[in-house]
Amino acid sequence: MSLLLARTLPSPAITGIDYSPGQVRAAQEMKKKAGLDNCRFQLGNAMDIPFAAESFDLVISVNSIKHWPDPVRGLTEIRRVLRPRSRAFIAEVDRNTSPAGLREFADKYCAWYVWPPVMHWCLRNVVFGNSYTAGEATNFACRAGFSAVSLQEVPGPFFLIVLTK
Ligand SMILES: C[S@@+](CC[C@H](N)C(=O)[O-])C[C@H]1O[C@@H](n2cnc3c(N)ncnc32)[C@H](O)[C@@H]1O
Repeated sequence: MSLLLARTLPSPAITGIDYSPGQVRAAQEMKKKAGLDNCRFQLGNAMDIPFAAESFDLVISVNSIKHWPDPVRGLTEIRRVLRPRSRAFIAEVDRNTSPAGLREFADKYCAWYVWPPVMHWCLRNVVFGNSYTAGEATNFACRAGFSAVSLQEVPGPFFLIVLTK
């Protein structure tokens, strides 16, 4: 997502964080291959974002909030690093996805060597089963102190909430 943004919006300075050194290394290699110099990647935990208050105009988090030990704390951290009246976009797989939506998703992305019933079970019970519903995420964002929280329609088995500081 960071590289896509860096390619699409050449001028802004983009910073990507992840608490996995492997993910940060992989992103740095992809950045080098893409020849982009308007983005950087570094280690950082969403529970304690390593930046000063009010240092970003926009925060985007994709498919990560379900892993955070305390989603309200992570969203509070995001609010802290945002400039006044700036926005955050938080996307994640929706635990309320219907069985048909899940099958459609699995059939599209399932690797040929994974037996579909195993993939469906893992998605239902592990990936989607450990995620949140759009309503739960909205509730976390309100508790994190955002002044406005709205739910956007997106294609596929995801929710996207837009939060304004
Ligand atoms: C499913 S991957 C999604 C990666 C990427 N955003 C994407 O959409 O391709 C979830 C990522 O969240 C990271 N992550 C989980 N908990 C985190 C935390 N507390 N702070 C920072 N990163 C975290 C993981 O290391 C992993 O790279």
